[in-house]
Amino acid sequence: MREQSTQGQEPAAQNIVHLWREYLRPYKLTLAGAVLGGVIAALSSGFGIPAILQSVFSVIFDGEPLPVYAERIMLLFVRPEELPWLTVWVAAALLPLVVVVRGLSSFVNVYLLSKIGLGVLETIRLKVYRKFQDLSLSFHDRCQRGDLLSRLMQDTQFLQGGLVQIANDLIIQPLTLFGALGFLVYKASVSQQFLILLANMLLVGACVIPIRYIGKKMLVRARTVQASQGDLSSTLQENFSSQRDIRAFELEQQQTNLFKNRIRRYIQASISVVRWQSLLTPLIEFVSAVAMAATLFVANMNGMSMGDFASLATAMYLCYEPVKRLGAVHNKAETLKAGLERINEVLHAADDVPEPKTPKSPEEWKGEVEFNNVCFSYQEDAPVMRNIDVRIPAGQVVALVGPSGAGKTTFINLLCRFYDVLSGSVKVDGVDVREMSKRDLLSHIALVSQYPVLFRGSVADNIRIGRPEASDKEVEQAGRMSAVDSFVNETGEGYGRLIGEMGEGLSGGQRQRVSLARAFLKDAPILVLDEATASLDMKSEELIQKEIEKLASGRTTFIIAHRFSTIRMADRILVLEGGRIAADGTHEELMEKSPLYRDLYTKQQMIAEEEGGASC
Ligand SMILES: Nc1ncnc2c1ncn2[C@@H]1O[C@H](COP(=O)(O)OP(=O)(O)OP(=O)(O)O)[C@@H](O)[C@H]1O
Ligand SMILES: [Mg+2]
Repeated sequence: MREQSTQGQEPAAQNIVHLWREYLRPYKLTLAGAVLGGVIAALSSGFGIPAILQSVFSVIFDGEPLPVYAERIMLLFVRPEELPWLTVWVAAALLPLVVVVRGLSSFVNVYLLSKIGLGVLETIRLKVYRKFQDLSLSFHDRCQRGDLLSRLMQDTQFLQGGLVQIANDLIIQPLTLFGALGFLVYKASVSQQFLILLANMLLVGACVIPIRYIGKKMLVRARTVQASQGDLSSTLQENFSSQRDIRAFELEQQQTNLFKNRIRRYIQASISVVRWQSLLTPLIEFVSAVAMAATLFVANMNGMSMGDFASLATAMYLCYEPVKRLGAVHNKAETLKAGLERINEVLHAADDVPEPKTPKSPEEWKGEVEFNNVCFSYQEDAPVMRNIDVRIPAGQVVALVGPSGAGKTTFINLLCRFYDVLSGSVKVDGVDVREMSKRDLLSHIALVSQYPVLFRGSVADNIRIGRPEASDKEVEQAGRMSAVDSFVNETGEGYGRLIGEMGEGLSGGQRQRVSLARAFLKDAPILVLDEATASLDMKSEELIQKEIEKLASGRTTFIIAHRFSTIRMADRILVLEGGRIAADGTHEELMEKSPLYRDLYTKQQMIAEEEGGASC
């Protein structure tokens, strides 16, 4: 993919903030609920648990009383001699209470964040999908289909999962850390145990070094994993859509080997990520154990009480856990960055066939077409159209003939503005196609392309693509004109007959008839038939030919055909060769002045005679 996103160069955190800002707006309230849940969960964990432990341990092990107000409340229910018994029970019950508060609030936090995450996922997918529809054909030419599929499905899914986890950790973990540190600072200020705090803080800082190193390693590998995933789906796509050729050319083993190699690359890259990922936890646990040992040592030197020690150890544990998780967040963010870059490459890809800012439309759509000194190439340094200069008046029937690869389909691609010319201009009714809205232009061209695509659905659905508002009667009439009815009625299913993916279940000729019916239905001022009857037998073609002639009358029509019988209705013939117009005239004129045309014609005549069919 040529275009690089500028956002891809930003630090991971900034990238994610961008993403949230772009997609979060509709979830403001839900997010507020999630943040509130997160704050309660974090504070009840970071500050609540050590503080409660401190009280519980002091009451149970050191025999200290509960605060005076708590005793007063208890005395409302029990006699004074029962107070010590109740005090132990109340102290013990505080712990599950704080855990319940923490559990409920973190449930709210996770649930709401997941809800937001799923919503964001669908928004991103839709956005990427829409972008695919808008991007030019040259963009699609450059990309592998499987890779695009993987960007749309896997990268977005990965992003969503990671975002929910990161958002969750970014709310809960820092607050837990602050809560626990707050408790430590409080303890240090009242019991002068600041040495413990200092040692603890230093070790917390030390965790960051291995985390950052591993994070960098993981980013590089995550990119390779995602790229190899794209390769894998491309291989699958290509394989599924070319099963017939694979069998015909006995490519099964070669395809399996290819798939095996791609899988191997994917596994190697994934294992490498797992290796670095799993190194992180033992490293941090080691640092935590050292911190715990230091704390025990300092506690012993200072003669700490059980309550103090239990609460300090818990607070320290609660400090390390967030550091560990935040370290993982950093790494996760780095791997997400790789996915985000791939999505952004699509979302920010420049459209090289852009819509004009203020689209123009011809005063009247008559169908006059002009190519003014047009040059074009699909790839740099490989010109396909060279100085094409031709004017076709409205209503003329023009045949484009020439050897394979001469540029006939390309001529049509430029007329439909599937690609933009490199120099010169293409005009329809006096307006440059680059100045028209693409939709406006294409709604005035009925195209039967060289490789028509049918979609899953009924025959009627597929014909109706030509004009969605057409009635059943009009659909059937178009079907009759293109000889669709002869094959749909054969099986008794009629126009409701179902077609599989990519036209599965119909012969090549039947697919062509359905796509011709679309053009009959569309009723546009410009008609383009690119080898539209090439897959039909001579007899079927003869039948349809009369209808095509009727349809073409009064419309500007381009007919591309290798069979000369198809182009006999043409008013004018353009002979293309190597991207140039080699000759231009009627059949009789060209037979006289164009050796290339004479040659093409003679060869075709011989083929037609061999087939025992019609000639022109
Ligand atoms: N999407 C593409 N990307 C790169 N090159 C292309 C692309 N489409 C066509 N070409 C090249 O452009 C040249 C003209 O192709 P085009 O399809 O216009 O030929 P054609 O005259 O329609 O041939 P045919 O009679 O075989 O259909 C060929 O050399 C072809 O290889
Ligand atoms: Mg072609």
